[in-house]
Amino acid sequence: MRSPKDFFAPLAVGAPEPVRQIPTLPSRMIHFFDPSNEKMVAKAPELAKKVDVLLGNLEDAVRADRKEAARGGLVRIAKATDFGRTQLWTRVNSLDSPWVLDDLITLVTEIGDKLDVIMIPKVEGARDIHYVDRLLAQLEARAGLTRPLLVHAILETASGVANVEEIAGASPRMQGISLGPADLAASRRMKTTRVGGGHPGYLVRTDPVGEELTEGRTTYQQDLWHYTVARMVDACAMHGILPYYGPFGDIRDVVGCEDQFRNAFLLGCVGAWSLHPVQIDIAKKVFSPDPADVAWARRVIDAMGDGTGAVMIDGKMQDDASVKQCRVVAELADALAA
Ligand code: GLV
Ligand code: MG
Repeated sequence: MRSPKDFFAPLAVGAPEPVRQIPTLPSRMIHFFDPSNEKMVAKAPELAKKVDVLLGNLEDAVRADRKEAARGGLVRIAKATDFGRTQLWTRVNSLDSPWVLDDLITLVTEIGDKLDVIMIPKVEGARDIHYVDRLLAQLEARAGLTRPLLVHAILETASGVANVEEIAGASPRMQGISLGPADLAASRRMKTTRVGGGHPGYLVRTDPVGEELTEGRTTYQQDLWHYTVARMVDACAMHGILPYYGPFGDIRDVVGCEDQFRNAFLLGCVGAWSLHPVQIDIAKKVFSPDPADVAWARRVIDAMGDGTGAVMIDGKMQDDASVKQCRVVAELADALAA
């Protein structure tokens, strides 16, 4: 059984005093499974050994007439399984749905001691988190739980993006935020029909060559999600919580998936959702720092002594700011090795 210490260790990235405390257990992939599906329930204990986070999904992708079965399946599997260091999360139904109240009451009462994080979809603003926070406090008190449940918001409405800073700081329970590109696209009335990833039509083209408007012009596909991921990362960093890329729906496109995950990693995300076993390995690879980068980071840290001043290493200037970047990489490697 994990202790609160696993979830609340000081944030030590560059700051002399931690801004606040964040979970330290790895969460490179949040692996979704459908607890209404008996086959998936049977596989869950084995799957749990391969992932950082196993998430029982109760929301979208579970049919309306299977909601109760999903809730019941999650309770059964949680009671029957020791997940070891693997975190158990759930995604409950949205706050305007007929199911969420029963989701929260049942899950906190029955398996509140086994669950680590509750993911709340379609969060619009701080008020949604305040509501969940108070409800959880009541249910935890009634169930006699001593470890507070953490809350994770999905950023998947236009108003959620507009309010992302207040969402990130809405409660000490806030663990992190995920990009929800499918619902977000619909909410923004984007003209896409896919779950995450890029789009070949979203591009820039080099200027015309002379009078020729069609030949010899190169196109570069752009990232539809750059703005939102960057906003989310800033909001999370400001409040000391963790940002994640969400789902990548084209399971066959392992290259596109890896590219999207890597962009998110480089921008500051710590993990992504995996919707299929093939995406588990992609996330593990992408969200674990490259050993060559870690070795370089440690060289810079050693050379920089107390972290002030400037040194040249292999012709590259290092100073107080670059050593802070290197600490981020080295500390992530240490945390994953722990
Ligand atoms: C995830 O829930 C999404 O809508 O992309
Ligand atoms: Mg969604």
